[in-house]
Amino acid sequence: MELTINGTKHEVDIEPDTPLLWVLRDELGMTGTKYGCGLAQCGACTVLVDGQATRSCVTSVESVARSEIMTIEAITEDTVGQKLVEAWVSNQVPQCGYCQSGQVMAATALLKQSPQPTDEDIAAAMVNLCRCGTYNAIAAAVRQAAEA
Ligand code: FES
Ligand code: FES
Repeated sequence: MELTINGTKHEVDIEPDTPLLWVLRDELGMTGTKYGCGLAQCGACTVLVDGQATRSCVTSVESVARSEIMTIEAITEDTVGQKLVEAWVSNQVPQCGYCQSGQVMAATALLKQSPQPTDEDIAAAMVNLCRCGTYNAIAAAVRQAAEA
C-alpha cells in the first residue's frame, strides 16, 4: 500500500485494516503522533487527513491510501502550523506535553477551515483531552496564532 505522508510517498506492506497510528509509529518511526486511549476518545493521535483533524488510532490505512496525511513531524513546514507552534511556545502551553502534538494538529485543522475563529469555534474544535488541564493556554495560543 502507498501512503502520502507530509508530501512523501511511503510503501508499506501491512494489513489494510491496520490503524494508521500503528503504521506511523511502528512501521515508519514517526513517533510524534501519540497513543493515548486507542478508542477515539482522547485525540492524542490526531493527524490531518486531507486537512481534517482525524483520530489515527481508529482510522484504517486502507481508508486513507488516496489521501494527503500530515503529521506533527511536518508542522513547521506549514504556514498555519508554524504560526501555531510559535504561539504555543510564547504561551508556554505544554505541561507534560503528551497530548500536545494532537492539540496542535487539531488547532491547525481549525485555523485552516476557520482562520478567524470565535471563542465558540475554538471550544467546539479543541475537544482533545489534556490531563494537565492546559485548555485555557491552548485557547489563548489559538487566538494569538489567528491574530498573527
Ligand atoms: S489514542 Fe486515538 S483518540 Fe485516544
Ligand atoms: S500537557 Fe499533559 S496531557 Fe496535555
